[in-house]
Amino acid sequence: MMQVVSWWIAVVCVNLVANPKSLTDAVMDVTLVIDPFIEEYNDRTYLKCVTGEEAYDINFGPVLESQQEQFYGLSSDQVVVGDVWPEGYRGAMYWFRQSAGGARVGAFFCDVTGRGGKERVTAAKMKPGAPIQPRVLTTTVSAGESVTLNMTSSSEPADRIEWRKDGDVLTGADALQFRLEDVRVEDSGIYETYYVTNQTVGGGRARAEQAIMRLLVRACPVGLWGDECSMKCPTCFNGGVCHPRTGVCVCPPGFNGPICEKACSPGTFGAGCSLTCHCEGGVSCNRFTGVCPADCAPGYLGTNCQIECKAGTYGLHCDGRCNCHGGVTCNIVDGSCPEGCPEGYMGPDCQEENGCLSHPCMYGGTCHPIGQDRYYCRCTDGYISRDCHPG
Ligand SMILES: *[C@@H]1O[C@H](CO)[C@@H](O)[C@H](O)[C@H]1NC(C)=O
Ligand SMILES: *[C@@H]1O[C@H](CO)[C@@H](O)[C@H](O)[C@H]1NC(C)=O
Repeated sequence: MMQVVSWWIAVVCVNLVANPKSLTDAVMDVTLVIDPFIEEYNDRTYLKCVTGEEAYDINFGPVLESQQEQFYGLSSDQVVVGDVWPEGYRGAMYWFRQSAGGARVGAFFCDVTGRGGKERVTAAKMKPGAPIQPRVLTTTVSAGESVTLNMTSSSEPADRIEWRKDGDVLTGADALQFRLEDVRVEDSGIYETYYVTNQTVGGGRARAEQAIMRLLVRACPVGLWGDECSMKCPTCFNGGVCHPRTGVCVCPPGFNGPICEKACSPGTFGAGCSLTCHCEGGVSCNRFTGVCPADCAPGYLGTNCQIECKAGTYGLHCDGRCNCHGGVTCNIVDGSCPEGCPEGYMGPDCQEENGCLSHPCMYGGTCHPIGQDRYYCRCTDGYISRDCHPG
């Protein structure tokens, strides 16, 4: 389990350029949780789209036009769309079966439509064994800057290297690095790199062995924002990016504060540190993913301990069973009952029996436990006696 989890990365992309309409309204809180590498020989490759608010519609698709035919041609034997796992999150999950083969490699989006408008988040998936890999998955720069897109290679190069941008072959790019000077918004896009041999057609891309990364170019020069790029950005720390239309620092997962100056405090994680860790012993969770180093705190379950115990259960691993009046649900952490313990039980989680369990007070008297086996009865006439027996 932990092995799978350690591969997860949460990619939070507030689209800075391609979809300016969605930026004018409140930006919906959408996260695409993926492993950037497919699991080649099983059915466990997925795209997980988690929304912080109610979504009317969620759609998955390929970012590049050149992959549309393949993606939308996948049959129901090859993909499954379902609820988010682990349960308790809003959103949808798109599972690729092993039989989907190379269609599992590419850049994918999740479009979420909700009250706040439509939001698109994208992320790439690659083959773990591909000979070329990107150094980073996404790079954001400002208009007018220069940037070098860096790939690494783990094997002997084939005859040559080919690059594509948004599916089209880039002429003049034939090394593991590709430098762009004076970038413009149009340079934003999906960049792919792979080996090609002179003898075979298609090269590594035909075998779904391309490296994929994304370049985002802010519409304004560095440090500026606004319709005319005339406003000065605050300095955004820790990889935060000044939003070109609002001037607000968009913080990467794990940081918050007006200028992304604060690391998530112990107890919180995620984009904007908006989620709370639930680790046993109050230990900090991974500030990007919420995963705890050991057990979840009592009351919580799941890979990142965000699922509350089911009604009627509580405690570590949710192993405790509530014991409240009339089957009322107890506190998921300590098992305490909202209206106290039922007659005959005591203790913080109402699991200990006491002297009132045998209902010893007669004629309508109420039983008050003093300890495990001791009690007193307050009788209907107001007196206290052993068991309210008249005479
Ligand atoms: C690419 O590598 C160069 C040299 O190591 C480095 O200066 C540059 O910042 C890297 N580019 C990105 C986008 O990380
Ligand atoms: C492959 O083709 C390129 C360009 O046509 C050429 O420069 C290169 O030497 C060739 N490589 C081999 C191994 O033939």
